Amino acid sequence: MTIYNTDNKLMLVAHRGIAAYFPENTMSAFKAALVSDIDILEIDIHRTLDNHLVVIHDDSIDRTSNGSGKIKDMTLAALQQFDYGIIKDSKFEGATLPTLDEVIKLIRDYPQKLLIELKQPQNYPGIESELIDTLNAWGLPKDKVIVQSFNQKSIKKFFYMNEGYELGVLISKKKYWYKLPPFKSIAAYANYVNPNYALVTEKFLKSAHQYRLSVMPYTVNEHEQAKSLQELGVDGLISDDPNEIL
Ligand code: G3P
Ligand code: CA
Repeated sequence: MTIYNTDNKLMLVAHRGIAAYFPENTMSAFKAALVSDIDILEIDIHRTLDNHLVVIHDDSIDRTSNGSGKIKDMTLAALQQFDYGIIKDSKFEGATLPTLDEVIKLIRDYPQKLLIELKQPQNYPGIESELIDTLNAWGLPKDKVIVQSFNQKSIKKFFYMNEGYELGVLISKKKYWYKLPPFKSIAAYANYVNPNYALVTEKFLKSAHQYRLSVMPYTVNEHEQAKSLQELGVDGLISDDPNEIL
């Protein structure tokens, strides 16, 4: 089941689309990413009050739109009354909140994989099954999708649903600054362990690779930083500015 990267090709991941130049997690950021030389598009998902899976990083729309409120307390129609581009730049005025369906519809026509991060799945009971139903309904090839989360329980749940999608565990600086993640137990259900880039050392990589876990650190936006991580032997890089680090 492992996809551990043996051919040493560095996977380039566009974080929230090309978030450096476009409003993050919007269709224009995704389109820009998919016509770039990237391998994977990363997105974040939450669930609306009326059970739509939507693509946004925070659990509220306060930071990235001209509105305010929590995703879980608002319907899709209410969320779509706001603008998700104007905060970045007036030239992006009119950007809507993408649904997961819209993103899948877009990426079907491109060769890249979709890396879906489940944000705070503990706040959305049953979101794992709902995500699987959505993916299956679109009939995307299983190897076109990777599902990841900081919530290891949620990724384990995915594994036991036995749908065959590639899975990843995100590793935060806060939790693992003083210790290595439990690679052996993670490798029992996941294919990737994706850490904050500051956690990546030779020892980290050696231990992860020993359990055939691929490692794609986030969020790497500087060319020099990317170069050192590549030299250390990471399998991929998650970046707001993949064209720069390329
Ligand atoms: O894909 C990894 C990265 O996106 C995790 O952090 O906060 O940007 O979602 P965050
Ligand atoms: Ca993310």
